[in-house]
Order: sequence, then structure tokens, then C-alpha cells
Amino acid sequence: MQPESIIHAEHLTKSIHSNGLDVSILCDISFTVPQSSLFAITGPSGSGKTTLLNMLTGIDRPTSGKIFFANTEIRGKSEDALSRWRGKHVGVVFQFFQLIPTLTAKENILLALELGKSGAFPRRSWSQRADELLELTGIAEQKNKLPSQMSGGQQQRTAIARALANDPPLLVADEPTGNLDSHAAESIFALFQQLQLRGKTIIYVTHDHALAQRSNYMLRLLDGAIAEATEPAMEGANEQ
Ligand SMILES: Nc1ncnc2c1ncn2[C@@H]1O[C@H](COP(=O)(O)OP(=O)(O)O)[C@@H](O)[C@H]1O
Ligand SMILES: [Mg+2]
Repeated sequence: MQPESIIHAEHLTKSIHSNGLDVSILCDISFTVPQSSLFAITGPSGSGKTTLLNMLTGIDRPTSGKIFFANTEIRGKSEDALSRWRGKHVGVVFQFFQLIPTLTAKENILLALELGKSGAFPRRSWSQRADELLELTGIAEQKNKLPSQMSGGQQQRTAIARALANDPPLLVADEPTGNLDSHAAESIFALFQQLQLRGKTIIYVTHDHALAQRSNYMLRLLDGAIAEATEPAMEGANEQ
């Protein structure tokens, strides 16, 4: 039986008008992201990974094609509805963390709860919710530190805790380990695996082939088209 899908993309294309020419950035991309999976999007620089990710979150719109989130098409929504929808359903993690530099780790998470307005957590529970997320992501001891007082790995954990604030089912991450040393990158990946065990779906972009290989599903782009789509064996199944 097929697992339920959280994202389903059908014949996505993206072209832009540049210097009087139509330039194709993505070409006929179709795929399904099963719920509670680790899904990697990989490919060389300029292959269209970020463009594709931005379409899955509704930050950017496809030129043609359809995207379904849990069986509902997201294309028809207004900008306002789309932004409310994103706030509730998708947590976004960036390569350069993008934390507010004047706020502590905990305050960065509290701000996301404040901005989320999803009603998932009443105001009186925000402090406790933030503490739980700091614990879950392994940075409880850093909670009163500013981003500049934390390592890259700790900052990325804070950014992940912030993305999880309103308990979205889907996390998307664009090169989340691209700015980290290999040890910190490994521990961020381990955190993703831990979140997956809790039922989250994680779509991550990486040009690191080894990291992409450790997903449950992988999509490799080349020049805006799907070069390879695989379902690597589940954890442990390919050990000899
Ligand atoms: N707004 C834009 N204007 C012009 N070219 C763009 C724009 N956005 C993306 N591109 C081009 O589309 C291609 C894919 O970009 P991107 O999705 O950022 O790739 P990746 O994330 O894989 O490095 C690149 O050739 C890039 O230069
Ligand atoms: Mg990119």
C-alpha cells in the first residue's frame, strides 16, 4: 500500500522572462512526498532546487502545473490565505539560519509563536512550548544566548526549534547544513531523523550527495529537470 502523501506535484514548470527571452528554470517536474518521510532534493548549483522548494511552500508560484498539500491544491489561494496556510503547515529552515540577532534563542522561538497566530498554542503556554522545543532540539542550555554567542550548529538548532514552533507537519530546509562543519552537519541530520520518528515530514535541499543518499526518497535535478528519482532502501535495509 502506498503511504499517504503530504505533497504531490504535477507537471510543474517555471519560466522567467529575462532580457527579452523566456528562460525555463524548471521543466515538467512531477513527484510525491510521502508523509513522515525524509525527502532530499539534490543536484548541482543552478539546477533549480531552491526554485522548486519555494514553490512547494507557496513562496513562489509555478508557471504551470499543480501542487497539492495533503490532497488540497495550493495554487488557488490568495497571498493572504497562502501566508496563513504556510504559517500553520510549513516550518522553514534556512542555510544562514536567519535568526533575529538581538533576540535570545528562546525569544526567537517566542516570536514565531507570536507571529504564528495559528491558535495551536494559547499565549499562556508559549513559554513552556518554547522550553520544550529548546529541549527537543538539544539547546536548553543556550536558551538565554544571542545568536552571536552560539556555534553555527546551535544557531541552526534554534532555527529548527523556531520552525517547529507552531507544530507544522512539514519542515522544509534549503541547504540546512551548507554552512556547518561536518560534525555539526551530522548532528543536524540526526535531529531531522529524530523529528521524522515523531511523524514530521522533512524536505531538505542539499548538494551533498552522501547526505542526499541517506533520505528515504531522493529527487536529483539537472538543468531544471528530474535526472533521477529514487526510493533508497529504508534505514539498515541495505547493510550487507
Ligand atoms: N529570479 C530569477 N531571475 C533570473 N534567474 C533566476 C531567478 N531565479 C532563479 N534563476 C535561475 O534559475 C536557475 C535555478 O536557480 P536555483 O533554483 O536558485 O538553483 P539551485 O538552488 O539549485 O542552485 C539558475 O540558473 C538561476 O540563475
Ligand atoms: Mg539554492
